[in-house]
Amino acid sequence: MIDLSSFQPNMRIAVIGASGGIGHALTAHLAANEHSAQIFALSRSGDAQAHPKVTPLRFDFTQEQSLMDAQDTMKAAGEFDLIIIATGLLHGQDLAPEKNIRAMSHNGFAQNFLINTAGPALCAKYMLPLLRHDRKTVFAALSARVGSISDNRLGGWYAYRASKAALNMVIKTLAIEHGRRLKQAAIIGLHPGTVDTKLSKPFQNNVPDGKLFTPEQSAGYLLGVINRVSAEQSGQVFDWDGKTVPA
Ligand SMILES: NC(=O)c1ccc[n+]([C@@H]2O[C@H](COP(=O)([O-])OP(=O)(O)OC[C@H]3O[C@@H](n4cnc5c(N)ncnc54)[C@H](OP(=O)(O)O)[C@@H]3O)[C@@H](O)[C@H]2O)c1
Repeated sequence: MIDLSSFQPNMRIAVIGASGGIGHALTAHLAANEHSAQIFALSRSGDAQAHPKVTPLRFDFTQEQSLMDAQDTMKAAGEFDLIIIATGLLHGQDLAPEKNIRAMSHNGFAQNFLINTAGPALCAKYMLPLLRHDRKTVFAALSARVGSISDNRLGGWYAYRASKAALNMVIKTLAIEHGRRLKQAAIIGLHPGTVDTKLSKPFQNNVPDGKLFTPEQSAGYLLGVINRVSAEQSGQVFDWDGKTVPA
């Protein structure tokens, strides 16, 4: 069982992007944990794993109203201890990470920034106010190591890298604004490692043996980081093993 003992019992939790590889595994770990009481599982389909603690909710980052509606439903349930954003986009229809500047497109930047930067930022707008004030809380968004400017050695993937670097800036800025109000909250970014999901599938060829995590493995590591993090570390981005990812 994952250790969530730094939180008070009966945690109310939201996983945004619960249909994704990592989001689904996070939801399963959290539902099985004795520390959790209720988990809102937000996805575009509105489907979620059948479990007495799991409440499915529908949302889509392309429709801000859907976040307002989710906020209303969540607010009616009470205050939250943990909110995790597990959404993200790297490739899709008419979208692939750029190998060089010739592959750049307005569409690529627009889609990446909409889902990887503006989406989590708007989640914060509607969901940070739902965090409780009287105990440790965490608001975590899945970012990526490739969003680190100082760690960029390979180049390429312009729009995805830039959208994650921008997400990291959003996280830092939220931590400054909300640190004044939510004194026990850690607002953090998380790099999950390279994880075997739909998002990474086309790019797994060069992953060294033993370095490709299952979603369950990565979700377990990320919850470990979330359990260990404190409000003093708010605004930072952490690797799956708890090391700081430099800006
Ligand atoms: N996998 C890796 O190796 C890896 C490495 C570094 C960072 N990450 C980061 O980890 C996070 C989770 O990735 P993953 O590997 O679990 O990917 P995934 O399996 O492809 O999941 C992506 C999630 O994002 C959701 N999403 C996409 N567009 C959306 C929209 N318009 N509105 C609402 N939700 C939307 C998807 O919903 P649908 O199911 O409806 O499409 C899905 O729940 C991402 O932020 C990713 O950048 C992953």
